[in-house]
Amino acid sequence: MARYLITSAIPYINGIKHLGNLIGSQLPADLHARYLRGRGHEVLFLCATDEHGTPAELAAARAGRPVAEYCAEMHAVQARLSQGFRLSFDHFGRSSSPENHRLTQHFALRLAAAGLISEVTERQMYSVADGRFLPDRYIEGTCPNCGFTDARGDQCDNCTKQLDPGELINPRSAISGATDLELRATRHLSLRQSAMRDRLAAWIDGKTGWPILTTSIARKWLNDGDGLQDRGITRDLAWGVPVQFPGAPWTGMEGKVFYVWFDAPIEYIACAQEWVAAGKGRDWERWWRTDRGAGDVTYIQFMGKDNVPFHTLSFPATILGSGEPWKLVDYIKSFNYLNYDGGQFSTSRGRGVFMDQALAILPADYWRWWLLSHAPENADAEFTWENFQAAVNKDLADVLGNLVSRVTKFCRAKFGESVPEGGTWGPREATLAADLGQRLDAFEGHMDAIEIRKAAAELRAIWVAGNEYLQAAAPWTVVRTDPAAAAAAVRLALNLIRLYAILARPFIPDAAAAMMGALGCEDWAWPDDLGAALTRLPPGHPFATPDVLFRKITDEERADWQVRFAGRR
Ligand code: MF3
Ligand code: ZN
Repeated sequence: MARYLITSAIPYINGIKHLGNLIGSQLPADLHARYLRGRGHEVLFLCATDEHGTPAELAAARAGRPVAEYCAEMHAVQARLSQGFRLSFDHFGRSSSPENHRLTQHFALRLAAAGLISEVTERQMYSVADGRFLPDRYIEGTCPNCGFTDARGDQCDNCTKQLDPGELINPRSAISGATDLELRATRHLSLRQSAMRDRLAAWIDGKTGWPILTTSIARKWLNDGDGLQDRGITRDLAWGVPVQFPGAPWTGMEGKVFYVWFDAPIEYIACAQEWVAAGKGRDWERWWRTDRGAGDVTYIQFMGKDNVPFHTLSFPATILGSGEPWKLVDYIKSFNYLNYDGGQFSTSRGRGVFMDQALAILPADYWRWWLLSHAPENADAEFTWENFQAAVNKDLADVLGNLVSRVTKFCRAKFGESVPEGGTWGPREATLAADLGQRLDAFEGHMDAIEIRKAAAELRAIWVAGNEYLQAAAPWTVVRTDPAAAAAAVRLALNLIRLYAILARPFIPDAAAAMMGALGCEDWAWPDDLGAALTRLPPGHPFATPDVLFRKITDEERADWQVRFAGRR
């Protein structure tokens, strides 16, 4: 039994996330956490809301709410939706927690003591009408790269180019629309990432087994001419972790807070402290401090590709720069984007399916299965309603659901609602067991390597193998001439249902629970010994015939949803 720390990139607080966000980090992280628990490992799985910065302030202002109240409400909404999708976080924290405030200030002190923080005077956009500086998303204008007229100060949503507020053409305030903007001097703290370049490069060089998507992005930032620049880690904002706190070695920083990308990853650690404060765990240092037992922890992070630079360079710079024995990440699994029906998901235009809408039309497992089996791992992926309908109707209803209902109904009709005795198994059963053994090895290999699409394909193949066996053994025909042989096949098939529940649980936890529940069994032990697993339910063991596991999606529903989620122009 080993110990695994798993974190998902923490979603921004402003608004409900769409399915592309979900498959970009939280859902695959949940899959892996569930798999490792299923194999008997000790897992701490953490996520939180990312509550600081301009996205939160602006969304609260638009909602006409005080930002602290807005964040508390949205946290509750996101927590409820996470539960709806069965995301099995050990704790779902908040980056605005007192724990994160303290820890963020602690890291700033350590970095300052190590000489890695400098005070700089910068010229930043100031709005005379608004009487304030306009960092990041507080400023909008025309993208100098693509001409998009609603680019934000930190990034253009149209062409994804990272921007500096000063680069925007025809800049305007996102609060008032005011255009009487001027550059004014303001003092800030800067993290001297450039001084950490060699240490970071050496650390990345040691990560030989990492996915190319992860290391190529990190290397690009390290080696580019303007890569790994010193980085401003403070902002002229009211909401966030205060920069001027008792014991801080700088002065005159009142009214400033740390940059959201400085405090957000620190929440990964603070979240473990929140987990303890909430009474769910006892010892967070055992997971995070290598001098207190975290030396044998394997730490895996999940995130979208746009988050990779912050996790391969910025956060490690904070950790390494502190000079303290914090646990560093061991493996980063990153994802491309999921597109929606010929375009992009769009929050502003309501285009695509959002987490609340998804759960309102179908149970979580339907979505989990499609999203995981189409995870955007090696390239961007696309959600289409045709594809979704086909996958649900075929994989879940025809292959898995049908096997479960056929076997249990047939058994009830012919042998009653308990596992029948029947004769001994022959060559057909031996062939199936050998096939399943090989497939199980492959499945485990893909799950261990976090190759999600391959794992899903293998799981589907394992279901198909069971169906093909039943088709060939044909107990419904054989029962007329050789009831003992039919009973033996049914006994095996009932045990297959249990095996499938265990293997499928990380993907479709509710259906797995329904399968196991119908079998009246609570033994979720991983089938390390396949032969033993296939005889786990002995003759005479009672079961109940479950309700339909998965219903089919009709063509009318598909057409209706396609229109409903197309978005506004
Ligand atoms: N909120 C960010 C996003 O959705 C992710 C933050 S991850 C963390 O892109 F490392 F900063 F926590
Ligand atoms: Zn652009």
